[in-house]
Amino acid sequence: MYRVLLTGSGGREHALAWKLAQSKRLEKLFIAPGNPGTAAVGENIAVAVNDFEALKKITLEQKINLIVVGPEEPLVNGIVDFFAADKAVSNIPVIGPCRRGAQLEGSKDFAKNFMQRYGIPTARYQTVTAETIAAGEQFLDELPAPYVLKADGLAAGKGVLIIHSRDEAKRQLRNMLQGMFGAASNKVVIEEFLQGIELSAFILTDGKNYKLLPEAKDYKRAGDNDTGLNTGGMGAVSPVPFATPAFLQKVERQIIQPTIAGLQQEGITYKGFLFFGLMNVNGTPCVIEYNVRMGDPETEVVLPRLQSDLLDLFDGVAQQTLDAKACAIAPETAVAVVCVSGGYPGTYGKGYPVTGLEEVKGSIVFHAGTARQQDTLVTAGGRVLAVTSLAESVPAARKKSYDAAAAIHFQDICFRRDIGLDCLN
Ligand code: AMP
Ligand code: GLY
Repeated sequence: MYRVLLTGSGGREHALAWKLAQSKRLEKLFIAPGNPGTAAVGENIAVAVNDFEALKKITLEQKINLIVVGPEEPLVNGIVDFFAADKAVSNIPVIGPCRRGAQLEGSKDFAKNFMQRYGIPTARYQTVTAETIAAGEQFLDELPAPYVLKADGLAAGKGVLIIHSRDEAKRQLRNMLQGMFGAASNKVVIEEFLQGIELSAFILTDGKNYKLLPEAKDYKRAGDNDTGLNTGGMGAVSPVPFATPAFLQKVERQIIQPTIAGLQQEGITYKGFLFFGLMNVNGTPCVIEYNVRMGDPETEVVLPRLQSDLLDLFDGVAQQTLDAKACAIAPETAVAVVCVSGGYPGTYGKGYPVTGLEEVKGSIVFHAGTARQQDTLVTAGGRVLAVTSLAESVPAARKKSYDAAAAIHFQDICFRRDIGLDCLN
């Protein structure tokens, strides 16, 4: 039996906690720091995700025998290496890649180099520093518009600029190299713009074997019909209609398998989730980015479709016996609608009471940015809740999620009305 410590506090972590809580192999679930949603399925502990010493202390005190890392930052900061290096906890499996593996997300330059080394389809690119700015400008001169500039390091999801004029791209390249995203943009990756439809693929791997999880489509812009500012994600759908078996087979053969082989080749032990941000370019999948964790809100549609025991799959990751585990996926469609605070992703109010959750029947409400003030549930972030429904079709799942969202109230509540509309066929 497992005593699990899950780290993180968003909608993704509520979905992970919700799924783990259903496991027959779970004795007790702790979440650090968690949120009011995770508190309903486990015990929250007020420790930050990057406080490795405090996480170690809880691990020993609570006799934890499996750790699951939700967000990327502690992985990039080396939480897996920290636990592996400490005799008191080195025998406890941590689900997530080591620091070097996490560079697939922590450094765009590393990721692009890696893809080039292993022949994984991705956009043409050049990495630029303050010293090589002239070569960067020359590369921009060779590319047609629009121009894609990416901060090399983690920039809280904000480090990508897509720019239509070449002069503006050159100006922003200088700004980035002069600290626009802090140290994260000391290096900038310039990329060719890929035209196509995006989708996300996810695997869980033990370093040798992998399980393909359901694919998902994320809705990143704040407004309907993909207008407005970029956000963390306003909704998600799974499955994605254009991700046919033939397309997914290309993703496995041309992207997933070479990635795992490449990691092995480099001596990187990767035991955890790997998220492939993909562009379908006329039927050819290309990698836009790797993430070394699950997506948010994608997790809120992926895990409700997973019929198998997630903790049993984690056991397979820890023991490197993932090939012997079941990973059954429900055929139903999942639609998640994210209810956000008015003003998000700009400035927004917090502390508004959230009501109506008890009226939601037949949908799952995952908490993202909520808090408890005495006995009242209040808003505490931009993305407040993700409402997920499973149904036999996209319209049926949409209807359930939108009916549920209509029953939920807080001041200035907003959500996109078109989640899943482009997946109707
Ligand atoms: P990222 O932060 O890497 O997810 O990038 C943010 C968004 O920028 C992606 O979801 C894509 O919509 C877009 N994007 C990134 N790279 C490219 C590219 N090479 N071509 C077209 N769009 C891109
Ligand atoms: N929803 C996109 C991400 O989690 O990166």
